[in-house]
Amino acid sequence: MSPAADLITFNEATSAEAFASRFGTPDDATARLLSAVVGHVHELIKEFRPTQEQWRKVIDFLTEVGHASDERRQEWVLFSDLVGASALVEEINSRRPSGATPNTIRGPFFRTDTPERALGSSISLDGIGEPLEVEGRVEDLDGLPIPTAEIITWQANAEGYYENQQPDLQPEFNLRGLFRADQDGRFHYRTVRPAGYGVPGDGPVGRLLAQAGYPLHRPAHLHFVLRAPGFETITTHIYDDSDPRLGEDALFGVRPELVRPFETDGRSGTKVSVKFVMIRARPGKSK
Ligand SMILES: [Fe+2]
Repeated sequence: MSPAADLITFNEATSAEAFASRFGTPDDATARLLSAVVGHVHELIKEFRPTQEQWRKVIDFLTEVGHASDERRQEWVLFSDLVGASALVEEINSRRPSGATPNTIRGPFFRTDTPERALGSSISLDGIGEPLEVEGRVEDLDGLPIPTAEIITWQANAEGYYENQQPDLQPEFNLRGLFRADQDGRFHYRTVRPAGYGVPGDGPVGRLLAQAGYPLHRPAHLHFVLRAPGFETITTHIYDDSDPRLGEDALFGVRPELVRPFETDGRSGTKVSVKFVMIRARPGKSK
């Protein structure tokens, strides 16, 4: 039989099939993934029907995103974060039982070498900003304390900048600390109230979204990583409930249970109380 008999004529109706049919082992995982991705791209093209010039602009944008990435800046990760893809991957992989503290993405400002500090000490090394006291408890799903829990925190300053964004202006490890919960699973430390901040808008991804009037803002928050032997590590945030832009977090991290009142009373200043609920490590889960 002539090879022409098996030929799938390439047209709008058959384009995805024409691509997928060329894999020697169509059930191979890579072949299936590529066929699915290409099929979705073809669907998009059929829906939006770009001109050649418009398609060229898409290619130019993707090229620019690649060129804007290097070892210090990862524009593709920013792209993934800002379109909710990172949060969706996190959501799919870190679903926890009801009552457990949800996981959110870590973001780009975490440092692995955060120094350990004594309970009650201050992580504000320059003392600039409105004082804030953070107190909390780490417990399991039954409400029992986890005395061995390690609490790593990091946050922006009162201007909305992290220490590693301003190495010349902020002391090394400013607003970062590693604490160990006491025997009741409790911890407390002093800091300053963080401000919300804008995500980098100077690259191709930020420019494109800003041009379309898309908000590039993160409401005020504290970052946490919680670790304890035998429990799944939690990477999460606590958000300031007074921030008017809670509903438009650029990284899609806000969950109702992570929003807490930053309460101010005349005598003791501003305070936030948090509770983290960890779950026992499950087989096959790295965190
Ligand atoms: Fe942050």
